[in-house]
Amino acid sequence: MNNDVEKVLYTQDQVNQRLDELANTLTEKYQGEFPVLVSVMTGAMIFTSEMMKRLNFKLNVDYVDVSSYEESSESTGKVKLIQDLSHDIKDRPVLIMEDIIDTGHTLKYLVALFANRGEKSIEICSLLDKPDRREVDVEADYVGFKVPNEFIVGYGLDFDGLYRNLPYVGVLKRSVYEK
Ligand code: IMP
Ligand code: MG
Repeated sequence: MNNDVEKVLYTQDQVNQRLDELANTLTEKYQGEFPVLVSVMTGAMIFTSEMMKRLNFKLNVDYVDVSSYEESSESTGKVKLIQDLSHDIKDRPVLIMEDIIDTGHTLKYLVALFANRGEKSIEICSLLDKPDRREVDVEADYVGFKVPNEFIVGYGLDFDGLYRNLPYVGVLKRSVYEK
């Protein structure tokens, strides 16, 4: 599995250190706010659970499953809701946890969906940001790392369902997705 990785961008230690910093910022900001943490499946699963252990305030956790990628490394721009929230978010602060913002279509869709339900506020926390690829105007309020325009795997991010369990953030070899 590791042989398919071109290079490691952020080691497990580097990610852990950055998560500590992000969690401290969020813990200050959300004290007494009682937000619903919304994890975007499946990519944000590891990021969400690693962050949750570090967040020192009362929260509920929920998740949505959306799909935008269809077994390729290119986004289609179309977002489909596969699994909705189980919490009512009316008058609740919502904090979306995402693995990466690429074109921005997924988050734009989710922000609009939640805004319709009368949430109190909405913020986005993304492990990674790939700003060069943005097609719609959406930014995260909290970002772990900016990454170059390459195909990233590990720490929850997959290619065709694989590599999510790599404990670091790396670039996938082109030969893997171009064959
Ligand atoms: P967006 O809608 O284009 O912003 O794409 C968001 C989703 O596409 C993310 O939640 C990821 O699941 C997936 N994605 C985007 N870029 C990458 C990547 O480099 N590696 C793996 N998944 C990615
Ligand atoms: Mg995703």
